[in-house]
Amino acid sequence: MLSLLPLLLFAQAGPATLTLDLSNPGVPVSPSLYGIMTEEINYSYDGGLYGELVRNRALKDNFRQPAHWSASSPDATIELDRTTGPSASLPFSLKVRGGAANEGYWGIPVRPSTKYRLSFWAKADAPGAVGASIESPDGSKVFARADVPSVSGNWKKYEATLVTPADGTTTKDARLVLRTGADRNTWLSLVSLFPPTYNDRPNGNRPDLMQLLVDMHPAFLRFPGGNYLEGNQFKDRFPWKETLGPLESRPGHLSPWGYRSSDGMGLLEFLEWCEDMHSKPLLAVFAGYVLDRDVLKPGLELSGFVQDALDEIEYVTGGPNTRWGAQRARDGHPKPFELQAVEIGNEDAFDATRSYPARYSQFRDAIHKQYPHLKIISTVSVEDLERGHIRHDQLPDLVDDHYYNTSWEMMRLATRYDSTPRNGPKVFVGEWASQDIPAPWADVDQKGPTSSLGSAIGDAAFLTGLERNSDVVEMSCYAPLLVNVNPGGRQWAINLVGYDALNSFGSPSYYAQKMFRENLGDRTAPFTLTDVPQQTRGADSLPALFASATRDSKSGTVFVKLVNPLPQAQTVKVNVRGAAVAPEGSEVTLTGEPSWVNTIAEPKKVAPTTSRLENLSGSFQQTLPASSITILRLSTKR
Ligand code: AHR
Repeated sequence: MLSLLPLLLFAQAGPATLTLDLSNPGVPVSPSLYGIMTEEINYSYDGGLYGELVRNRALKDNFRQPAHWSASSPDATIELDRTTGPSASLPFSLKVRGGAANEGYWGIPVRPSTKYRLSFWAKADAPGAVGASIESPDGSKVFARADVPSVSGNWKKYEATLVTPADGTTTKDARLVLRTGADRNTWLSLVSLFPPTYNDRPNGNRPDLMQLLVDMHPAFLRFPGGNYLEGNQFKDRFPWKETLGPLESRPGHLSPWGYRSSDGMGLLEFLEWCEDMHSKPLLAVFAGYVLDRDVLKPGLELSGFVQDALDEIEYVTGGPNTRWGAQRARDGHPKPFELQAVEIGNEDAFDATRSYPARYSQFRDAIHKQYPHLKIISTVSVEDLERGHIRHDQLPDLVDDHYYNTSWEMMRLATRYDSTPRNGPKVFVGEWASQDIPAPWADVDQKGPTSSLGSAIGDAAFLTGLERNSDVVEMSCYAPLLVNVNPGGRQWAINLVGYDALNSFGSPSYYAQKMFRENLGDRTAPFTLTDVPQQTRGADSLPALFASATRDSKSGTVFVKLVNPLPQAQTVKVNVRGAAVAPEGSEVTLTGEPSWVNTIAEPKKVAPTTSRLENLSGSFQQTLPASSITILRLSTKR
């Protein structure tokens, strides 16, 4: 990816002076400031976080051929059969003579001492065994195997466990093979292979990706989108009711990102994902607008969808004595989830009919009546709502702002919320990212897949503005979160966390956010910044130093965040007023060349380092490396 940062001309003044006033208590920092956002894009769930290893498990990905399946040997045959399947939701199957192989999502990951849970639905025209194996693509190496003794004539579920040996191979060059016998026809569907999952949840998530996310300590998870909430057409919206219960009753649906979703990651799985991260769900409800620009009329036409949203909230929060809470209990989770906020729609400013205020108020009034404690999020501005004649008492608690920009523009946006009125709705920055590429959805295999350090510097500069204004910016989350880095795996170029079947890594933007989240006080620490050098691009200029500071009122630790976008080191004078500074502190730094990225091969090329600071006092100088994000941790006593 081309980084623009080294091309900048800069005019060095300075050194800058940052003077902290710790006698001023600052404003409270929102405890929900840092969350994460997710949707099915870039094979985020299927082929990503969702642990399933079999691709096109229910044979619905392509209605003409059994995509991602092949005959296991030259004398075997396979065929897509659209006349028979295990359930009304999954009416298709694979008719096999001899054996069938599934290629997985760019391979099946094999690790030593690993237990794989296999299940499939099958019937056969003569009884016989099915032999399952995880093996190399040419079948010459078998990594694990198991047998299912006999498949009968009616659709039935079968299960087996495959275990790799302790001295086994680690590879993603593997396939799953089901050998069915050449003397009979066997029909297979909903073929599923799960490796161990995070917290050992059945139908659960991939542990390495979960760990990366858990390590971000996200306050909330915004789901299910994004465009994935809306769908291209009404039939493609996130069909939450059809994502519940046993897998054989989930039909799956087409995502707006060009591939089918199995809906193995259903509403309950989203909620359990929150539970595993100790994060709160932030639920977006479908609000009648789809990406093909079709929109439902407010009033009667919309009322069924309003009821659908109320049912969904009841599924999340209702006691087992409510209709949908009881459904959740039957699905295996009697305990209600703690929901704080509901977002009505996604990016409804694109609705050219300007119907959002009317749609919003219909949803808002119904939700507020039944759930007055829930925070309501609008996807358009207060001005747009008011133009649509929204009453003052109907205004949302938060407005969702989205920013996808170059790192230069994200640095400019560091002051975006400095003068936002404090008496209106709060801000939820529900999607944002620095991207030094045009059109992140175009020619994607030529770009990305994850951010560079240069982009992370734009991100960090932007985040300093959110932190300084976290009395009004209550929540924020970067997007998109996840990307399968294989060719063909992405629909959006720049993302936070990358992976293939076996390995995963956080981008520089991931580490920048983790650093910000891990070093966050509960109150802002007011400061002034003077003599700041400028950076210029043509006739345009911006400050060349970005800062925020927060204080932990219990421990007295002050976290000073400093972002240096210049291609050279700069010195900052730090003065601390209103508190004594202990001589010892520490600093966390993220630095390197702006063009550097992390990859599967070099997952931590750009990663934070921590070092001790000594001889600190109420006035000291700090050198910030070129192209760096630095967090100073100072022990202070008032
Ligand atoms: O993050 C990718 C897409 O960008 C989201 O789905 C959508 O909300 C936004 O336009």
